[in-house]
Amino acid sequence: MCGIVAYIGHREAYPILIKGLHRLEYRGYDSAGIALIDDNEINVYKTKGKVRDLEHFTESKNINGKIGIAHTRWATHGEPNNANAHPHYSETASLALVHNGIIENYTLLKKALQEHGYNFKSDTDTEVLVQLIEYIKTSNNCSLFEAVQSALKQVIGAYAIAVIDKNNKEEIVAARKSSPLVVGLGKEEYFVASDVTPIIEYTNKVVYLNDEEVVLLRPKEQINIVNLNNTITKVDVKSLNMSISQLEKGGYPHFMLKEINEQPKTIIDCIRGRINVEATNVILSGVIDHKDKILNAGRIIIVACGTSWHAALIGKHLIEEFCKIPVEVEYASEFRYRNPVINKGDLMIAISQSGETADTLAAVQLGKEKGAFIYGICNVVGSSIPRATHTGTYIHVGPEIGVASTKAFTGQVTVLTMLAMTIAKEKKSIAKERFLSILKSLKSLPELMEEVLMLDERIKDLSKIFTYAHNFLYLGRGYNYPLALEGALKLKEISYIHAEGYPAAEMKHGPIALIDNEMPTFVIATTDSIYEKTVSNIQEIKARGGKVIALVTKGDKIVSSMADFSLEIPDVDECLSPVVACIPLQLFAYHIAINKGRNVDQPRNLAKSVTVE
Ligand code: F6R
Repeated sequence: MCGIVAYIGHREAYPILIKGLHRLEYRGYDSAGIALIDDNEINVYKTKGKVRDLEHFTESKNINGKIGIAHTRWATHGEPNNANAHPHYSETASLALVHNGIIENYTLLKKALQEHGYNFKSDTDTEVLVQLIEYIKTSNNCSLFEAVQSALKQVIGAYAIAVIDKNNKEEIVAARKSSPLVVGLGKEEYFVASDVTPIIEYTNKVVYLNDEEVVLLRPKEQINIVNLNNTITKVDVKSLNMSISQLEKGGYPHFMLKEINEQPKTIIDCIRGRINVEATNVILSGVIDHKDKILNAGRIIIVACGTSWHAALIGKHLIEEFCKIPVEVEYASEFRYRNPVINKGDLMIAISQSGETADTLAAVQLGKEKGAFIYGICNVVGSSIPRATHTGTYIHVGPEIGVASTKAFTGQVTVLTMLAMTIAKEKKSIAKERFLSILKSLKSLPELMEEVLMLDERIKDLSKIFTYAHNFLYLGRGYNYPLALEGALKLKEISYIHAEGYPAAEMKHGPIALIDNEMPTFVIATTDSIYEKTVSNIQEIKARGGKVIALVTKGDKIVSSMADFSLEIPDVDECLSPVVACIPLQLFAYHIAINKGRNVDQPRNLAKSVTVE
């Protein structure tokens, strides 16, 4: 989604802003722009396309200035073109503003401003906001800060904004509601960004803004935050624990490939300090600290979107099997709008890599209002969802930059496994032997994942055979059914090949009509409790001339002899099979997308962090 970077201080702003925009590229965008104040003028440069296009565009321009705002836009109102790109000027060009989010009542506001003689150059809701700020500032003869506060009171919708005034190059005003914004604190300088990636190179001290907070940044003064009602907010400075190397490709051609390969390490980080094989224990403090609420939950509702929703389906299986608590899994986007039944005493689990997904955040807020106890499973430390939940667990897999989620998925499933084990142990609802066996499997995950990564060359060769397929079916059963959904999602989002995931037995209720020699099927057929059933499903496909790629457990003879191609993965407890088995699916999608010349890290139309509904 859109990204904001802003800087004010003693350095030239342009290089910081451009570098910051590059760091935010992973979020997905279709145009970029920058505004700098020099000689009491705001110079705005913006263009459709990539940040490098913006750099070319500014080559012979005046890029001086120690204060500036910059933006990558993911189009919502108005097509991606130069006029709709941010920053937007106000009527007299004395203000410029960048905005993430959606102003829902912009049509009404625009009409009122037009009646006051304001002209609009773009189709965006953002231009309405900057015009409104200028209108209030001029008619009330007030400061920029006051005008921003007053304008935001009239706005319905979501926003993260940064505004500058050509007559005051000593200040930036920024604000947020339902769209993330973080301020980096340097020495007589401030950084503002949608997430910490553009900031960590300069400072590890940050302040996350809360909803309806407005911040005034003057390099020689302390940060000043108030809410829309002018109440001063206590400044909560956090220290970041992240290194710049985590944001770079480390020798890999793409972030996605780097992140797939990182998984053995990220799983070590995810389980570190949480499992103790010698003491035969799993400890998630988020559970232990709120035992009463969690162990006595009569029902669990898991809300999530996309890949996180697939992890949630695995979570349901784990929790119901180990803890004997009924679990419902909901698309956050549907849940929030259907007046769901939530009872006091229900436990809601929200899963989100970014911690910023608008629908998941709204579902959390709804759950909270209705009295549920909320547990977050997120990756981005300090993001909005963990701050809105009562407790939770970070998956700790490090920044995920590739738009297609990979290491976050394995981290989420691993945390869900530890969560189910912690609850089950406390409730004594799991047999000791089973608990110990899963504990051992958890510990062995990194090693098993290393082994699976060695399939890369073979998968690369296999991908060449299927590069020109138009459709793909993915099948799995039990714990591997959500993995079939995930495999299909990975393929479609980065290669743009249409792919569907199904529980294997559902085939005969419809999808089997699609099977012919042009419709390949990827079957996850590891040796588990329903292996024989999956074998029958493969026979049904082969009988109709379908091509089958099968993911099997090492040593498998039956499926391997039936499938056209098979990939062997090591044996692992079936509840953890998705963590290991997802790697070949990720690599397969990656290589097909590369063969097709796709931009795997930033697939078309997609955003990494979906902060609008
Ligand atoms: C797919 C993908 C998306 C996200 C979804 C939720 O590869 O990345 O489907 O999983 O947008 O995002 P988070 O987990 O950040 O809430």
